[in-house]
Amino acid sequence: MSIRITPLTDPDHTHSSRRLAWLASHPDGTPAGSAFLRLSSRPGQAHRAELNLTVHPAERRRGVGTLLLAAAVGAARDDDRSSVFAQVEAGSAGDLFLSVRDFRRVLTLTYARLPLAEIDPDELAEIVERPHPGYRLASWDGIVPDELAVTFAASRRAMDDMPMDETDYGTETWDVDRVRAVARAVGDRGDLLHTVVAIDESDGSIAGFTELVVRGDGRGDGQHYGTGVLPEHRGHGLGLWMKAEAIRQARERHPALDGLLTDTADSNRHMRAINDTLGYAPTHRAYGYQLDL
Ligand SMILES: CC(C)(COP(=O)(O)OP(=O)(O)OC[C@H]1O[C@@H](n2cnc3c(N)ncnc32)[C@H](O)[C@@H]1OP(=O)(O)O)[C@@H](O)C(=O)NCCC(=O)NCCS
Repeated sequence: MSIRITPLTDPDHTHSSRRLAWLASHPDGTPAGSAFLRLSSRPGQAHRAELNLTVHPAERRRGVGTLLLAAAVGAARDDDRSSVFAQVEAGSAGDLFLSVRDFRRVLTLTYARLPLAEIDPDELAEIVERPHPGYRLASWDGIVPDELAVTFAASRRAMDDMPMDETDYGTETWDVDRVRAVARAVGDRGDLLHTVVAIDESDGSIAGFTELVVRGDGRGDGQHYGTGVLPEHRGHGLGLWMKAEAIRQARERHPALDGLLTDTADSNRHMRAINDTLGYAPTHRAYGYQLDL
């Protein structure tokens, strides 16, 4: 079987990353698979590359994936990246494929789902209404209101020590422009971004946040993005409180929504405890693999 690997021009450039792409095809042009390599240019993450590689199910176990992988890893080396990261479902072909390469397993994530129909509204209300002296909840849709933008960007630091096991994740840097750009990108693709925050009443700054993305038509499953509480505000139950409020709002505002999806590193004990308390049930597990260059 002679397979040709063609580098493609990928228009998916953002202000903070670009993507390289390759197509694997037969001599007659029939596609067999593709690979994408995302190269971040953000300070603190410019050493990383993220790989997404797929071979058509009818073309597998014939070396196509190996050829695509070689092209992507070569490009990561040429770009002076020090690691290539890929995420695969546990027990999948991708898991088996990467485990026999030089990749090592660096992260275990559990995916969990909360079926909204099974929620007990009284139990949820009890959590949301529990007093948290010194804090209040606030929320918005889409882009952060101007008066909260500076402390919202500053609160993203809460994610810096999120357990990522052995993943060479680096540190993300945030500013007001970036939090606005992320929210704009979600809106531009037609989805709804709901953010709930806990505000420190002593100075009006944001102590923690949780983000939920719902399809524009309010159907299917919503996807939780980040939840974080700044280190100096941990231990007061703010994570559980904010996530409970996000669920309450989702139920109320999107009656056709089926469920909410979340994924958490197995080593993230505190976030997993919050998800368990709120009734999220594990659906599957995924692994992060990393190749150190
Ligand atoms: C993972 C994937 C890219 C592999 O593509 P492929 O063309 O079948 O891979 P190759 O034929 O080059 O290499 C296969 C080697 O990986 C391992 N492997 C791949 N799939 C496997 C499977 N289902 N069971 C056991 N081993 C497997 C084997 O060692 C195999 O060598 P062998 O066939 O000589 O035994 C393909 O299954 C796929 O597209 N999966 C869905 C997307 C995905 O998980 N991508 C992973 C990285 S982002």
